Order: sequence, then structure tokens, then C-alpha cells
Amino acid sequence: MTGSGTAGRVEALKRCHGEKTGDAAARVFQAPGRVNLLGEHTDYSGGFCMPAALNFNTLVAATPRTDGLLRLHSMDFKETVKIQLSELDDWRTSQGEGHWSAYPAGVAWSLLERGVGVTGADLTMQGNVPPGAGLSSSASVEVASATALLALAGVSLAKAEVALACQRAENVYVGAPCGIMDQFISASGVAGNALAIDTRALTAELAPIPGALRLVVCNSMVRHSVGGGEYGERRSQVEEAAEAIGRVHPRVKQLRDATLAQLEEAKGTMSLEAYLRGRHVITDSQRVLDGVAALRAGDVARFGKLMDEAHVSFRDDFRASCEECDLLVQLAQALPGCLGSRLTGGGFGGCTVSLVEADVADGFAASLQAEYRQRSGVMADIFVCEIADGAGELL
Ligand code: GLA
Repeated sequence: MTGSGTAGRVEALKRCHGEKTGDAAARVFQAPGRVNLLGEHTDYSGGFCMPAALNFNTLVAATPRTDGLLRLHSMDFKETVKIQLSELDDWRTSQGEGHWSAYPAGVAWSLLERGVGVTGADLTMQGNVPPGAGLSSSASVEVASATALLALAGVSLAKAEVALACQRAENVYVGAPCGIMDQFISASGVAGNALAIDTRALTAELAPIPGALRLVVCNSMVRHSVGGGEYGERRSQVEEAAEAIGRVHPRVKQLRDATLAQLEEAKGTMSLEAYLRGRHVITDSQRVLDGVAALRAGDVARFGKLMDEAHVSFRDDFRASCEECDLLVQLAQALPGCLGSRLTGGGFGGCTVSLVEADVADGFAASLQAEYRQRSGVMADIFVCEIADGAGELL
């Protein structure tokens, strides 16, 4: 199963937008969700991560307005919300909290804060990134909205700037303490490639995924949320580790600056939780660099092994897995043609990603789904994915 059918979705979107606004020829923009291959919870430590954009996205049809009104319509929630641009601040606390429209509204707010001349607009949105699955449906809504609003304003921003504006919308307006990875890959993804992102420099290197391999994403159906307390708790523990090392080595501001030896040295001055979370972040950031080297050398078996190791680190040191995801990973690793498998994204549920030989990928997906159902009683959604481009206008 793939996230295809874009032509039909665009047609339905334009029809709906035309009925609401009278503009049947509106411009249409898209931004994808993502899967992360290596480097989890490293992006708020200035570390490395390696996501890929998926062929699941949010579509936005957009028409400018001259009256300063932002009229948002979600085809998925079957709801329209109207906000004056001048009232975005009040609206966040009065009505936006926990509502789908806080994401696009937050993006308009964040772009205005940066001095972008955002105009009023009619935006009609529809997405097929599974929500609550750890595949960055939120970032895809944000980046698609930003791409549309920037185009209507006639402003072009560097992709890293678009990502930063969207991250700020999510951190401050929506109130979820995410890093930069999801918005960055949604804005900058390149078809056929993962990106090895340096989240401190905000630069990325292409990491081509060989055509003979597929990414198979399997939803455990356990809901994941960045807004939930566990993400924030892990973030504080990671920061505690960096601060403890920084007291001994003042050059260390974030775990990006620290070595495993320095973590060991400062172990006695931090909680056990901080030490273990720190060990995960330092080793997983390194696994991204090792993964890039493995792909360059054509050593896909080594890359798969790094994914397996990343799962162990995420499960045992970061303690961000769950029983269902551990089961999925264990079942996947035992199936023929699977090079590596791990839980992807923020953790505590959501999806696993497996690197699988292309010619057996469909059989792998069917077996994984059947075995998981038999063991857990749950019917998982499973996708043999394409690696897509980042955000843009559909022409
Ligand atoms: C979520 C956040 C990202 C990142 C991942 C974990 O997806 O939005 O910024 O921290 O979790 O790698």
C-alpha cells in the first residue's frame, strides 16, 4: 500500500475550495510527512539525524484575500475557522488550544512575527499523513501552510528559514516542544534520498537510499504525541546531562559538543535517567555519521545493523519504546529480506521503519501485518513507502 492517488485528491480539493470561495483555479501546495532512519531525539541537542520525506502529504489550495481574514477549511475535520490576522494572538488562547487550526494559524502568526507580509487568505486543506503515528502530520500541515502563505505574499524564504518559522509556530503557538527535524525534512526532502541533517548548522547532506531497497513503515496503532508529557520529560533529562557535562567541560553547551568519555566522567553528577538519555543521544547522533559512511561504501548490511542498534538504544537507554513497537521490530528482524528495523519518530508508540529488499517488500509487509495481528490482536496499517520531495507548489 502506498500514499498514491494524489491526482484524485487534488481534484477533490480544488472542487471543495471552488465551492467555498468561487476560485476554481486556485494554486495548490503540498508538504510531506517523514520517517526517520537514524538519530532520534538528537535534534534539540544540535546533533545529527537522518529522515526521509514520504509520499504522504498535506495539500493546501490557496486564494489571497484583501480583508485581512484567514479562512481555514479542513476537509478532514469538515470544519471552517475564520480568524482576523490582527487577532491571531488572542485567538490562540481563546479558541486555538488543542484545535487543528492552531497549526496553520500559528504559521501565519510566526511568519508575521518574522516580518513577512502575510495577506489574508482562503486555505482549504486535506492530508493523508496518518495522525498520531509519529510520521509528522503536524509538520506537514505547518510547512504546507507556510509554503502557501509565502507564495501568496510573493516572498521566498530559504528552506531552513521556513522550517524555523514552522518550528516556532509549533513550540510557541501550539505549545509542543519539538526540535527542527520534522519541519526541516518536510521543507527540504529530496526524492530517493534520506537527508543527513546537522541540526546545529541547519545544513544537510544527501544520503541516497539504493533503488534495490524499500522503507516499510508499520503503524503499531499505539498513538504518539509530541505534546504529551513524556517527550518534554525526555527533553529535560537530555538537557540535564548536557548541563552536568558543561559544569566539568564549559565548552559543552549541548550534547552535540560532548563525547561518551565526557559523559562517563560526569556520570556521578547527574541522575541515572540523564546519563542513560545522554548516552542514547550521543551514540545515535554518531550512528547518523556512521550510516552516511556505510551508504557511501555501499554497505547496506551495516546500515541495517545501525538501525537495529538504534532501536536497542532507544528502547533501553532512552526508554521511549513500547511493547507493541518492540514486538513489531522483533518480528520484522526475523523476516527474510529485512536488513534492519526500529521504532521511528518521537517514541512511545507510532510507527516502526524497516529497511527491506525491494523484491520481497510486499511479502514482508503482508507477513509482518499477519504476524503482528496474530500476536497482538491489532490490525496494523503498513506502507511500502516511496521517498518523496519536500514542499512545493503542484503545477
Ligand atoms: C518528534 C519531534 C522532532 C524530534 C523527534 C525525535 O518528531 O517533532 O523534533 O525530536 O520527535 O527524534
